[in-house]
Amino acid sequence: MQIVQTVAALRAAVADARARGERIGFVPTMGALHEGHLSLIDLARAQCACVVLSIFVNPLQFAPTDDLAKYPRTEAADIALAASRGATIAFVPSVDVMYPGPRVVSVIPDAIADRWEGAIRPGHFAGVLTVVSKLFNLVQPDVAVFGQKDLQQATLLRALVRDLDFPVTVQIAPIVREDDGLAMSSRNRYLGVDDRRAALALSRALSAVSGRFLAGVRDATELCATGDAQLRLESAVRCDYLSIVDPVMLAPVDTASVGDYVMLAARVGGTRLLDNHRLGEPFPVLR
Ligand code: PAJ
Repeated sequence: MQIVQTVAALRAAVADARARGERIGFVPTMGALHEGHLSLIDLARAQCACVVLSIFVNPLQFAPTDDLAKYPRTEAADIALAASRGATIAFVPSVDVMYPGPRVVSVIPDAIADRWEGAIRPGHFAGVLTVVSKLFNLVQPDVAVFGQKDLQQATLLRALVRDLDFPVTVQIAPIVREDDGLAMSSRNRYLGVDDRRAALALSRALSAVSGRFLAGVRDATELCATGDAQLRLESAVRCDYLSIVDPVMLAPVDTASVGDYVMLAARVGGTRLLDNHRLGEPFPVLR
């Protein structure tokens, strides 16, 4: 695996791969890699001889009150893991490389993005869409892989590519979970023993909603009540939102259909966790 830190080195490495006739796959990350990230590399690698992994903790998507300074950084381990899964280029730019001068142009989503995470983290998605636009222009991949774990982000990235005509195919990979059901996240490492146990309420809530849906319940209020009841069983869990939404706009629905999502965000101690599940698919069995 080639490790590149500058725009010129990245462009040269990708040009070499293109000259060899390789398809280019791209997996953007902020590092602290876990099996969820690695599954994205696997998916890209299955289709592309060249897989670019980027590791960049993007300051633009963190609010001043967010956890930017304490975001986990495990670069050496990340690079070893990415190489072991077949990534061929690691792009690890500094903040100065990504944002060298005054920045006057951003990619800002319409008001539709102001709900859910957009309501709780103003400016967050503009930061994500801006950095991913820059990364797409730098890497110029054929395929870019993101995770369903961040459902609203994935939905907005699909919209970015569609609305601004980026010549890239976006793929959304399924959520990778721990054996007990907790969705893998770089932020899980902040959870103490008690909070780690309490955090299981999130996947239990999704599992319960999924089960009620599969049993024939379609009323969204009733489905949400089922999920909320599970979350309330853990006093350490504070729900930010739990909703049944359509897959395109992520607007709340009154009557749930196959393909809608149940999505939720909750705080467990000081850690914010997100999770979701596509209705109609059985929730994975929890051990
Ligand atoms: P990060 O949180 O590092 O996540 C990188 C990618 O991994 C995202 O597409 C995310 O959805 C995916 N991912 C995270 N946990 C996962 C899991 N348990 N299963 C499957 N995929 C998972 O998301 C970002 O970084 C940034 O916003 C980024 C897109 C890189 C822009 O800065």
